[in-house]
Amino acid sequence: MNVVCIGSGYVGSVTGAAFAVLGHHTTVLDIDQHKVDQMNAGKSPIYEPGLDHLIESYIGRSLFATTDYGVIYDADVVFIGVGTPSKGDGTADLTYIRLAAQSIGHHINPNKFTVIINKSTVPVGTADLVASIIEEVSGLQVNTHFAMASNPEFLREGYALEDVFFPDRIVMGIENAHSKKVMKELYFNLLNRVDYEEKSLDFHFAHNPNVALPTYYETDIKSAEMIKYASNAFLAVKISYINEIARLCETLGANVTEVATGMGMDSRIGSKFLQVSSGWSGSCFPKDTAELLATSQKYSCELTVIQAAVHSNQQMHEYVVDKIKRKLKTLTGKNIGILGLTFKPNTDDARKTQASVIIKELIDAGARVKAHDPHGMVMFQQLNAGLDVQYVTSAIDVTHNVDAVILLTHWDEYLLMDWSTAKDNMRSPYVLDTRNVLKQGPLQKLGFDYEGLGISS
Ligand code: UGA
Repeated sequence: MNVVCIGSGYVGSVTGAAFAVLGHHTTVLDIDQHKVDQMNAGKSPIYEPGLDHLIESYIGRSLFATTDYGVIYDADVVFIGVGTPSKGDGTADLTYIRLAAQSIGHHINPNKFTVIINKSTVPVGTADLVASIIEEVSGLQVNTHFAMASNPEFLREGYALEDVFFPDRIVMGIENAHSKKVMKELYFNLLNRVDYEEKSLDFHFAHNPNVALPTYYETDIKSAEMIKYASNAFLAVKISYINEIARLCETLGANVTEVATGMGMDSRIGSKFLQVSSGWSGSCFPKDTAELLATSQKYSCELTVIQAAVHSNQQMHEYVVDKIKRKLKTLTGKNIGILGLTFKPNTDDARKTQASVIIKELIDAGARVKAHDPHGMVMFQQLNAGLDVQYVTSAIDVTHNVDAVILLTHWDEYLLMDWSTAKDNMRSPYVLDTRNVLKQGPLQKLGFDYEGLGISS
């Protein structure tokens, strides 16, 4: 099949590479010549483990990248995978979606029934908007000359390839009989894991390939659009919930890791997304909860659970800062080392990260901050130019002469760090592990004053 993915960002580049691997002639389309050149040189335009390898292996074979919108003319399916950032009022900015729709309108083949699919996270009703723009620009009619579908992506940054090749479900909002057939054919190899062994897809990822095949769930377009927002908001609620339980565990002397394990054994609850943290952040949960809340307010339909989760998440950031303050008595004149600036490991994405909020509060309270991240330092620095932080290129350098080390992101390299040298480097050996991932016993043996979240020390 001839597939075009508009956008070479996170969604477009991963989706494009995946369909190329699955045997479709796939073109990633972007107005950014630099990103297109990168892909054509066999490099990933984003940092995502494994993606470089796939692009390098498939570029020029079944994967192509271009700035030429003319490729839309021959496409059987066109995925829209452009950004939908938050506007000041929380609603999603659909500028790039509109531009993509206009380009499709200009280049769509009137004699070919093209299926246009929104893969970006878009508010309910966006498929109608895209259809109306295409109709206006091209003079064609939806469901007569082309069809719309909503196929939200559920990829986690850092684990995108695992999620794309071994998903739990494919949600397909689709209402036209012909396009239903087209989309099932497009996904056939993924749904049946055809050729996976040959392509070594089961070896590349940590995922156990023996798990059940994905469910292909067809629904109406608006419900599919809502499934994406409702899923992300639900996961955010789940994390806020365990983080609140962690705060109570700490007060009562219970251990939140034990509690989460015990809760997760109930299949109605599930064990995932119950890992304690200094709060959820990143480019998806804050944006998607904000959009859902803004839309619900517009229609006077208050989503109080999601409101509470957002509020609780802000409190979690503050709780971490208060905990450090309590330990160090004052932050004035204290040196603090931060491990991890990205919103989670295995990504270079430092947008809307909890680190920026926590570091700002520490500095405002009089502390001097040193920080390290293996991949996110450049983006963090660019986005937080106003923050007076000393960035160090080696994790161990964060520990020199500091009164506390705060682990915010659980990169593997922090778990494997030479903590004995770290202890010798520090002015006072206090470690706050906001992910409860460091080995408490061994660190205490080394003489560290170790604290996690929701566990007794
Ligand atoms: C999220 C969803 O998980 C994906 O399904 C979705 O496709 C994606 O948004 C999107 O809309 O594009 P992502 O933002 O990449 O993926 O990251 P997550 O792994 O969901 O983590 C989000 C935040 O929650 C991070 O700050 C992470 O550290 C935190 N988190 C996650 C916890 O604090 N505890 C957990 O147990 C899990």
